[in-house]
Formats: sequence, C-alpha cells, structure tokens
Amino acid sequence: MLNINHLSVTYHNSEFATKAVNDVSLAISQSEIVGLVGESGSGKTTIANSILDLLPEKTEIAGKTFFDGKELSKRTIQTIRGKDISYISQNFYTSLDKNIRVGKQFDLILRSNTTLNRKARKEKICQIMKELNFQNVEEVLSQYPFQLSGGMLQRVIIAMAIVLRPKILIADEPTSAIDSMSKNSLLTLLAGLKEKFDLGILIISHDLRIIKDYADTLVVLYQGEVMEKGKNSNIYNSPRHPYTKMLLESKPDFKKKVLREKKLLRVKQKCVFSPYCPECNGVCNSDIKAVIEENYYCKCNVCKY
Ligand SMILES: Nc1ncnc2c1ncn2[C@@H]1O[C@H](COP(=O)(O)OP(=O)(O)O)[C@@H](O)[C@H]1O
Ligand code: SF4
Ligand SMILES: [Mg+2]
Repeated sequence: MLNINHLSVTYHNSEFATKAVNDVSLAISQSEIVGLVGESGSGKTTIANSILDLLPEKTEIAGKTFFDGKELSKRTIQTIRGKDISYISQNFYTSLDKNIRVGKQFDLILRSNTTLNRKARKEKICQIMKELNFQNVEEVLSQYPFQLSGGMLQRVIIAMAIVLRPKILIADEPTSAIDSMSKNSLLTLLAGLKEKFDLGILIISHDLRIIKDYADTLVVLYQGEVMEKGKNSNIYNSPRHPYTKMLLESKPDFKKKVLREKKLLRVKQKCVFSPYCPECNGVCNSDIKAVIEENYYCKCNVCKY
C-alpha cells in the first residue's frame, strides 16, 4: 500500500549539510504493523516527514514514495495527508489547542473534511471514542486537553487520527510520554485497530524491546541507514545484525565501552556501525554488501560472508 523506495534526505542550513537518511526502502501493507526502530537521531522522524511532505523547503530528497501504486507528489499528498494517511507526531501534546475543549477540536476535523451534519458528526465521534475504549465519552469531550492524563490524551489523538478511516497510520514515538503500563495497553490498542480497520501502521520507536511484541515487520535504522529489516518473528528470534542484537540485549553503555576499545585499535571501516560493533573484523574493511533474501535485508559483511 505504501512503498518508500531508496529514500535519501539531506538537510541544508546556512553552515552545513546533514545526511539524515541514506537509501532507505520500506513498505507498509494493509493490516500490518511495521516497527521502525533506532536510537535518537537515526532518521526516523525524517522518514515520516518525508512521506507526508513535511520536510523544510531547502531539504534535498532523493527516492520515490508510492501510495496504492501511485507516486506521491507535493500535489497528491495534499489530498491524502490526514485522510488516507494519518499522522500522530512525536510531539502529540502540541497538536491540540490547550484552550479549546477536546470535543470542539474533534468536531472541527469532521466539519473540515466531511459534509456530515452536527448530529451525524457527534455520532461518529462517540462511535470512534468507544472503539478506543472510552467509557465516559461525554465527559472527555467536554474537557480541555490539559485536564486529561497522558495516556487518555494519546487515545484521543489516535481517535482523531483514525476518525476519517485512513488506510495508513503513522505514529511517531506514540509511547514516549506515557508510563510503562500504559505503553503496553496503547500498543495492544493499536494492534486491535489494525485488525478492526485493516490499518497499515508505522510505529516509530527508539525502543525495540517495547514494540517487538506488536510489530509484524521490523526495520532497524542506524545513522539513517537500514541495518536489518524483515519479519519481526525471525529477527526477534534470531537477529543477525550486530546492532539489532545489541538493541535486543539493551546495552545502553555499549557506545562508550566499544568506542574506547576501537579507538585503541585505530580501526577504520566502511560500515557506519563499525566504531561500536563487537563483531567487526577484517571483512568489514571492504565495501558493505547487504544480505538480500525474500522479505529480509541485513547490511553487514559478517552476515554476508
Ligand atoms: N530540520 C533539520 N535541520 C537539520 N538537521 C536536522 C533537522 N531535523 C533533523 N535533523 C537531523 O537529522 C538527523 C535525524 O533526525 P530525526 O529524523 O529527528 O531522528 P530521530 O527521529 O530518529 O530521532 C539528526 O542528526 C538530526 O539532528
Ligand atoms: S559490517 Fe562489520 S562492522 Fe559493520 S555491522 Fe557487520 S560486523 Fe559490524
Ligand atoms: Mg524522532
């Protein structure tokens, strides 16, 4: 349904250029959760913003994105954004106006995008809120955003994002501002919506351990490049890329420790992960060749040879 082919993104500002994404390809199908994971700064939000044409004007973009077989252009995305492809941004708190009651903001979405009358709009809002497990719909709608808890606010935002029945939902770090109990129930909720509405969902997260239980497909990103990509069940059970292995083992201090050792060895490899890679050896000196199998990709010479 949504295909990103060989996307590269370079930000330009007055002093320097930052290559944030380098040759990334990924696809999201109907009824599929794709987990895009990688540490902060690896290019996840840039990929989301490129799908939705939300990147700053001067940004250099290469590659193509297709939705339902048609290439997305600046013109076509205008009609698709918010409707067929819905987006919950990383700063979802700021996407609501704190001075306007939740119900009014919700109604505005339907007023701007449908011809439904007031009663029908209200019915639609209540119906979708119930799908999102709200018991006290009227009470929530009558409140201001700051009166709701983080988890509740996040559910309201999801309800708003899917009320127009999109085919794709992109959720950027949806669990970042909520407690760990709520994280799992939120992801369970998203998984339920996937089934109920045949939604294709891109969940962006810096925490592989949280989304591994919910994603059908994983895309592991490091410094703007895909390190490993494939069925979640395969990658989770037997990760092949050293970076994925580290994410699953969660070694938060791996950078400091390994970099120190590598510096001593003065190793200079072509792989972006080599300064931190515990498996780095002689084969990493040559150009990196990816392992490409059906529904699987791994950018590592040790896996290749
Ligand atoms: N508007 C921008 N201008 C310049 N550099 C940017 C901009 N937005 C992001 N970057 C840089 O691009 C890289 C990827 O950022 P981002 O996509 O936000 O990563 P993530 O979402 O994985 O944390 C980072 O190095 C970040 O500093
Ligand atoms: S190519 Fe070498 S340095 Fe890069 S991830 Fe694989 S083993 Fe590590
Ligand atoms: Mg981000």
